[in-house]
Amino acid sequence: MDQAEELLERSVVNYQGRPVGTLAAVDPDSPPLNYSQCFMRDFVPSALYFLMRARPEIVRNFLDATLELQAQERLEDANMAAPGLMPASFKVVPDGDGERLVGDFGEDAIGRVAPVDSCLWWVLLLAFYGRVTGDWDLAHQDRYQTGLRYILELYLEERFEMFPTVLTPDGSFMIDRRMGVAGHPLEIQALFCAALKAAPALIAPGSACERYRGALERKLELLLGYIHECYWLDLPQLNRIYRFRSEQYGACVANRFNVQPGAVPSWVSEWLPREGGYLVGNVGPGHVDFRFFAQGNFLAVLSGLIGETERAGLMQLVEQRWDDLVGSMPCKICYPALEGQAWHIVTGADQKNLPWSYHNGGNWPVLLWSMTAACLESGRRDLAERAVEVAERRLVQDRWPEYYDGPTGRLIGREARLHQTWSIAGYLLARELLDRPQDLKWFNAL
Ligand code: GLC
Repeated sequence: MDQAEELLERSVVNYQGRPVGTLAAVDPDSPPLNYSQCFMRDFVPSALYFLMRARPEIVRNFLDATLELQAQERLEDANMAAPGLMPASFKVVPDGDGERLVGDFGEDAIGRVAPVDSCLWWVLLLAFYGRVTGDWDLAHQDRYQTGLRYILELYLEERFEMFPTVLTPDGSFMIDRRMGVAGHPLEIQALFCAALKAAPALIAPGSACERYRGALERKLELLLGYIHECYWLDLPQLNRIYRFRSEQYGACVANRFNVQPGAVPSWVSEWLPREGGYLVGNVGPGHVDFRFFAQGNFLAVLSGLIGETERAGLMQLVEQRWDDLVGSMPCKICYPALEGQAWHIVTGADQKNLPWSYHNGGNWPVLLWSMTAACLESGRRDLAERAVEVAERRLVQDRWPEYYDGPTGRLIGREARLHQTWSIAGYLLARELLDRPQDLKWFNAL
């Protein structure tokens, strides 16, 4: 604990003399690339931990800084980030006698990936800040209402969409490389659900955001029904899909996406326990991505995207498939890995995403916090404790790696950064939740 606290402190970055976020990694051995920046998603476990430890000022400064960076109305340059978009990361650079912030919206990032999750995390952090401190005045300030309005517009405006889910490009969230996660990936839908629930409390009475209240409510209702119907997979549902008829036309058909039964991968039927289930990774025309994505499933519990019965089913699956999903380090980012021809085609032969490495089936310690919170929220303290124990066996001696490799995560990730901040903060947050489960109330509606 002491070492983790000290390392977290060392990662804090200052702007104009005030703490404003945490660096992604402070690894003495590897080239920094963009790990010397503060990432929106990486800061989340640090932020939640700071808030719970009565240090709200750093979170407030972070919210201010990122609001300052938010993309504004496009002028003549149509290639700029859409108005309202929040950066994936930012850095502090010297500027004359002072310093300034520079955001990265994906234009410098490897693969030029767009951070669709950033705005959603920002809304959630703002709401979290309000709930913990009771200070809703921050969110209700005019400039925050303007920022929020941009975001609501960006996420609620109808485009080429037929479903209540958010349509996103590949690699637009924690998995920020080509991994066949374009379309309607679960993690974004879980964050979207949480943001839809969190937003109403952030709207100042009489502000221009008021007109979105109705849309927020309607979208949430549609989203909950749709995810339940189309993403939840258990044995009865798998049997229905397996016996689907295809080429059905019309509004009320069972196989609305024209999923071909032959496309069901052979591992699923053996892997899915008799009792229990999970939310699949993605759904779209002719497509169900049956892979298990941990962050999306755990955030679905925390956001209330799934109800009590499904939560219990998810916990049963985690328990029964413990070796696959937890193994030597909580927790596998997605299961199973893409191998052979599928790896070649879907990742574009990505050497960093080799089977059972990095995003393609690696184990990520940061997932410990959402796993712990989801287990506690589902009344499975036993699983949360077990996961924290597994993590404790290795994290300190391995120097807090970013990720682990191998089918059960026994190897330190080949290109993993050490002293990765969200691995450290994720552990501290998980411990904090075990010690003070009453703090889970802050997650309400997350
Ligand atoms: C990697 C991860 C991404 C993370 C970033 C900084 O690119 O895939 O999720 O935000 O590193 O740690």
